[in-house]
This record gives sequence, C-alpha cells and structure tokens, in this order.
Amino acid sequence: MSLIERLGLAFMHRIDPETAHGLAVRALQSGLTRKPGPVTSERLRCTLAGIDLPNPVGLAAGFDKNATVIAPLSQSGFGFIEVGAATPRPQPGNPKPRLFRLSEDRAAINRFGFNNDGMEAIGARLAGRPKDAVIGLNLGANKDSADRAGDFATVLRHCGAHLDFATVNVSSPNTEKLRDLQGKAALTALLNGVMEARAELSRPIPVFLKIAPDLETNELQDIAEVARDTGIDAIIATNTTLSREGLKSAHAGETGGLSGAPLFEKSTRVLAQLSQMTDGTIPLIGVGGIGSAEQAYAKICAGASAVQVYTALVYHGLALVGEIATGLDRLLARDGFANVADSVGSKRNDWL
Ligand code: FNR
Repeated sequence: MSLIERLGLAFMHRIDPETAHGLAVRALQSGLTRKPGPVTSERLRCTLAGIDLPNPVGLAAGFDKNATVIAPLSQSGFGFIEVGAATPRPQPGNPKPRLFRLSEDRAAINRFGFNNDGMEAIGARLAGRPKDAVIGLNLGANKDSADRAGDFATVLRHCGAHLDFATVNVSSPNTEKLRDLQGKAALTALLNGVMEARAELSRPIPVFLKIAPDLETNELQDIAEVARDTGIDAIIATNTTLSREGLKSAHAGETGGLSGAPLFEKSTRVLAQLSQMTDGTIPLIGVGGIGSAEQAYAKICAGASAVQVYTALVYHGLALVGEIATGLDRLLARDGFANVADSVGSKRNDWL
C-alpha cells in the first residue's frame, strides 16, 4: 500500500462507515484509485461454471450495490465482480446508522436491508458495462413484496442480457424472513422460477445460489440436493453471520450480519461440508473473512473454485486485491500446482 493509500484509509477510519463507503465509491468514480488491470497468469486463469476468469479473486456483493463503479472496479485486479443486490423496485433500506466498523476484530456489522436504486436504474448502468470484464448481479427481493420468490426472477428477466452470471441471495439476515426461503420446498419453487426466467434469456447465463453460514448440517444437505435437482450452476458460501462469538469491539452487539475476519473459520467449514456433500459436481465460491493470499488459498484447498472478498478491503484498501492474486500464484507454485483447478479441495479434510 502506498503512503497516500495509507493516509486515505486512516482518514476513512475516523469518519462514519457509510459516509466513508460513499467516499470510496466517489474516489473510484473520479479515477483516484489505482488500476492495475486484472491480475493474471497461466496458473491463475480458471473457469467457473463455464466462465473464463483471469484469476479466481472476485469482489463480493454489497460493495457496488448500484452498479455505479463497475468500470474502475474491473480494472482493480479482480477476476470477477458481483454488483447489487438489486430488487425490482428501488427501496431505501433500514434507517441509519446501519453499518458498523469492528476494527479490533477486523470485521463489520451491517443491516442495510437491500437499499438500492432498483432494477430499472441498475439495469441501465449494466447495459453500459465494460465487455472485457466478468460481471454478475446479486438478485434480491423487495421488503414489502407480495411475491418475494418471484422478485428474483423479475430482476433476472430485466437485467439478464447484460450479465455474465446472477446470484440468488436468500441469505441476507437483514430482510425479515428472507432466510426462510432457504428451506427445501420454498427454495425449490423459487429456483425453478429463476431457472425458467433464465431459460427465456436470449443468452442463458449461469445462476448461482448464495447461502448463509448459520445452517445446520441437515439444512446444508437439503441445499445441496435442491441445487443438484434445480440445476443451479454454483453455490456461494457464505453470506454474513448472526453469530457474535469471540468479538472484542464495542459495536459487537449491533443487530445485523457480521463479516470479516471472525467469519473466516465458520464460512470455510460450511464450504468444506458443501464440497463433501456435492463431491465436485457443483462449483463452489468461497467467501467470508478472506484478508490474505493464504486465506484465499485455504478456501480453494477447502473446496472453492473461486473466492470473493469484501470487508478486508475496508482495512487494507484495493491494493489487497492484487496482493491476494499474486500471492495465490506464488502459493500454487510452492505446492507444485500447475493451476487453480488442480488445488481445489486438496485439503478439504482439514476443515471437516
Ligand atoms: C454485504 N454482503 C452482501 N451479500 C449479498 O449477497 N448481497 C448484498 O447486498 C450484500 N450486502 C453487503 C453489504 C455490506 C456492507 C457487507 C459488509 C456485506 C455480504 C458479502 O457479499 C459477503 O458475503 C460477506 O461480507 C462475507 O465476506 P467478507 O466481507 O468477510 O469478505
């Protein structure tokens, strides 16, 4: 990290977190952030559900909720980017404050509640996206919707033509009862609706399912079965957690989803369990608490074909993306792997 980036981050950490996030988005829009382009190499190049990636390090949903900084983000080193969540109609989300920094824990708690500009505005921005990047959209449901399950298909129908992948997000803890849609019957019906909408697209794209880390083994087993039966292309494990175990920070008691370092172990265990249950038949994307190349590599060795990062960027800045990707290349070489794919799941048993 350069001195300017260090000073910028130090300043951001003195102001309200949501204001700081807004400033980070403005800095990206103004071209003030560095743009190394996607980091890539023979070893890092990989395929995720049929999509070719320059490297397996993606941006997790929730950073660019409104798809306003796709172009600069796609030049920041990531192998792929997920924007959103987008809901059919715009909605304000929960009252502020709704984002909390837990610096001592290298974590964050958010209860945004799908604040976003809605699929019309987000779809229009996606239409102007760079064509040489891999861009997906996190699909959400309106809080006051009469048909929440149908909302996911509605957003996919509207935005699908501009996407490389879409993610069904039934795992946010900040929309009341949303996570009930992870149950077997409800999830099957919801995903069948989404897959019908996908089939109507002139260019059908892969559909991913994002799950919570707070599921019991039998619930995970159900999800693995539903994913197989409905033909979902990949599973993202995981979203934020409701757990507050081992936290030291003053904001530990805030309501919402916890992300960052304390989520690493829990989300990696869920990932490894899913990897065992699906036995390599469905690609997995590992998310939760990644803050270094070693941790990205650990997720891959636990069963992930690719990874995503968010909260660590708050503490290390965007320079972290390139550091993780180049560090991953070095770790693969150290262990004698010719590419990412060869290392996927190689240490899964360590997490079971
Ligand atoms: C999120 N996350 C998230 N996930 C999702 O599927 N849709 C969303 O809209 C959001 N919004 C969101 C906002 C904020 C402020 C945070 C911190 C997180 C969850 C995110 O994509 C990721 O799954 C978790 O944060 C875990 O990864 P990290 O942050 O520990 O790397």
